[in-house]
Amino acid sequence: MQIGVPNQSGPAERRVAITPDVTTRLAKQDFSVVVESGAGMAAGFPDPLFEEAGAAIADARVAWGAELVVCLSGPTDDQIGFLRRGGILLGLLEPLDKPQRMEALASAGVTALAFETLPRTTRAQPMDVLSSQATAAGYQAVLVAATEQGKFFPMLTTAAGTIRPTKALVLGAGVAGLQAIATAKRLGAIVSAYDVRAAAAEQVESLGARFVHLEIEQQDETKTGGYARELEADAQQRLLMQLGEHVARHDVVISTAAIPGQRAPMLITRDMVEHMAPGSVIVDLAATTGGNCELSKADETVTHNGVTILAPTDLVSGVATHASQMYARNAAAVLVHLLQEDGVVIDFEDEITAGLCITHEGRLVNERVKSMLEGGSG
Ligand code: NAI
Repeated sequence: MQIGVPNQSGPAERRVAITPDVTTRLAKQDFSVVVESGAGMAAGFPDPLFEEAGAAIADARVAWGAELVVCLSGPTDDQIGFLRRGGILLGLLEPLDKPQRMEALASAGVTALAFETLPRTTRAQPMDVLSSQATAAGYQAVLVAATEQGKFFPMLTTAAGTIRPTKALVLGAGVAGLQAIATAKRLGAIVSAYDVRAAAAEQVESLGARFVHLEIEQQDETKTGGYARELEADAQQRLLMQLGEHVARHDVVISTAAIPGQRAPMLITRDMVEHMAPGSVIVDLAATTGGNCELSKADETVTHNGVTILAPTDLVSGVATHASQMYARNAAAVLVHLLQEDGVVIDFEDEITAGLCITHEGRLVNERVKSMLEGGSG
């Protein structure tokens, strides 16, 4: 079966969905790869590297028109026009944010598989693009903060005197947060972190950071499907009152708090920013879902009372080579999972395939997307 890899690189996107090493690996499973010219260039994989790995190089129409297409973000209307009726599309298709796009894919007769709806089970972990890309984002967020700050992260003892280490606070200790903690520690900062999930404390401490204990009830994630839930209004109020003094004491705040399918929790208010020391830096990862900081503006640099607030939405592109490699390996794991004796099969009895599948044989098969299009909240 032929896999198409379109060129989606642009000012905010440097990744490619399949890399040369994964092309070689897929060839062993009888998949051949056709790459749109220049697709891997910005990630450090120019066309000749793909050719050496056995891929063919073609134009956009051919790459999007392959039997199975692996993309990053979902296709534009024009690109949907290139897709093959009866073909398969795998990528970060934003099914819940762009339900109309899903309707268009169904009308085009495409089987759409979205990484966003992959069940977060142990068996599905090797396919979990959201986690691999959040790891890249958490790492990059710390580097962005370190470059912006104008201060060293580690303690330095020099002939010019002793330099105090940076104090970094990470809010939300999920995938991105834990990687941010590990990265800030490696750079020599003194790191603290907070999360509403009780289980996060041990994970934070195992990385050598201090867990910030607040007087609000910690959530037992085993009762909430592994995720945090939104706080009641009074708990949210108490959280903000207690978090303020911690935010004020830190030079760098990396915020990664998220609740799946909902607006990002508000954790850093304007008032808190006004109590931070000038020169401090906030990097807010949650801009695409509304931001964790009241003053964040997606992809803009906001300066308020000398505090810099960054909310980049393209952090993963800062580590495009490895982020692409991880993405490609996750995608290959899905393809191998779909592979049966007679080729790729969409088997709705299989929990992973059923979870991924949004459209099939001209119909929407994901209940949440269907309900959104029918006017429900999803
Ligand atoms: P995750 O679900 O693994 O972690 C989110 C954490 O936030 C969880 O541990 C949760 O318990 C915690 N949380 C929820 N409510 C909280 C509250 N009120 N106070 C403290 N903690 C709270 O999510 P993941 O994969 O780590 O992603 C984090 C964020 O990063 C998401 O918003 C995601 O969209 C974003 N992201 C941003 C990128 C960028 O380039 N800006 C790239 C990749 C991900």
